[in-house]
Amino acid sequence: MNFFAYRNGEMHAEGVALKTIAQQVGTPFYCYSAAALRAAWQEFADAMKGMNASLCYAVKANSNLAVIKLFGDLGVGADIVSVGEMRRALAAGIPAGRIVYSGVGKKASELMAALEAGVGQINVESSAELETLNAVAGQLGRKADITIRVNPDIDAGTHEKITTGLKENKFGIDIDLARGAFAKAGALPNLRVVGVAMHIGSQLTSLQPYRDAIVRVRSLIEDLRSDGHRIDRLDIGGGLGIVYADETPPSITEFVQVVGKETAGLGCELTFEPGRRLVGEAGVLVSEVILVKPGVFKTFVIVDAAMNDLIRPTLYDAWHDVLPVREPRPDAATIRCDIVGPICESGDYLAQNRDLPSLSAGELIMVRSAGAYGAVMASSYNSRPLVPEVMVDGTRFAITRPRPSIEEMIAAERIPPWMAQAG
Ligand code: LLP
Repeated sequence: MNFFAYRNGEMHAEGVALKTIAQQVGTPFYCYSAAALRAAWQEFADAMKGMNASLCYAVKANSNLAVIKLFGDLGVGADIVSVGEMRRALAAGIPAGRIVYSGVGKKASELMAALEAGVGQINVESSAELETLNAVAGQLGRKADITIRVNPDIDAGTHEKITTGLKENKFGIDIDLARGAFAKAGALPNLRVVGVAMHIGSQLTSLQPYRDAIVRVRSLIEDLRSDGHRIDRLDIGGGLGIVYADETPPSITEFVQVVGKETAGLGCELTFEPGRRLVGEAGVLVSEVILVKPGVFKTFVIVDAAMNDLIRPTLYDAWHDVLPVREPRPDAATIRCDIVGPICESGDYLAQNRDLPSLSAGELIMVRSAGAYGAVMASSYNSRPLVPEVMVDGTRFAITRPRPSIEEMIAAERIPPWMAQAG
């Protein structure tokens, strides 16, 4: 089912014309389809039926409160990487016990906040963190339930900036050193080891790296059990890819089935931590054309969204489909163009070398598959207000994060007292 489609010549998110939202909210803005979010969840829920497995949404992909709450209301837990994300998950109503805390560099104060809140599982990524967590748990008189994230040294075959499961990446404890780390954890009085965690990368379009990683982790689990550890949980991480251009990522059902098959007989409760796959295709970025500038080699379509609103194209060479919001005539001629923002950097582009029907000032465009790692990675570079977010559900829509005013942005800053006095 396509939740973003042309109807009566206008692009709609479910039952709402994007043009209508633009008139009320202004541009640029992110728009999420609640039905698309629910559909992605439903596919996971159906595939996981009968399995001893739970779903923790990786909040980093899109931490808008409304998005987290939509999943929380469906019984989904949260995978978090900061206390800020924890507070969001709790504010959205996710019970602390369903929160998994991952991350390569957690501070003692953050671990303290997580234990005080009652976070269900902490995925420890280093030997130093074991000691810090043990000390913090001791201060609170608690025992912390932990997994140790291991790095299985598997090439996920994704962009170098989003692969995480290789020896040269900073994540997890090298699988060859893992037995030692588990032995250490087992000897620390305030930690309770409950399992093993992995996460090999993001935007995976093949299941083979998961198979390979699980084979390695399985044999580690057997060793750990023979060392006397209780390993009840296996956290698979996230990483399942989506369609940006012409990728053919596996279906959620295939993914869950393969993980189920590879872990069969292991006797572990599984945790899935998808981010992108739950939200990526459920969101778009809508922007207005400011002006069109013909060049010698190609035309520049300058729009009011920029690299600060969607950093993925310039940071990861990511390809996002761009469509006019008003449906072009089937026979419309196309022009070769770059869709660029108004920021003073050559890296400020949303799309390059696209053949699009000619666009003119005031027209709207839509950037597809922008629901994951879009708004969350936005900044206010060039003093551009943080891009607002909108959720559509059927024929309703609501602003779920308003655009801040310039006054609010300036009011958040302070002049040092000596300057104020001098002035
Ligand atoms: N679990 C852990 C421990 C993670 O580090 C991540 C993502 C996930 C789960 C969720 O992965 P997903 O299912 O979304 O692939 N900003 C980049 C992606 C960074 C992913 C970081 N870790 C991008 O825009 O492509």
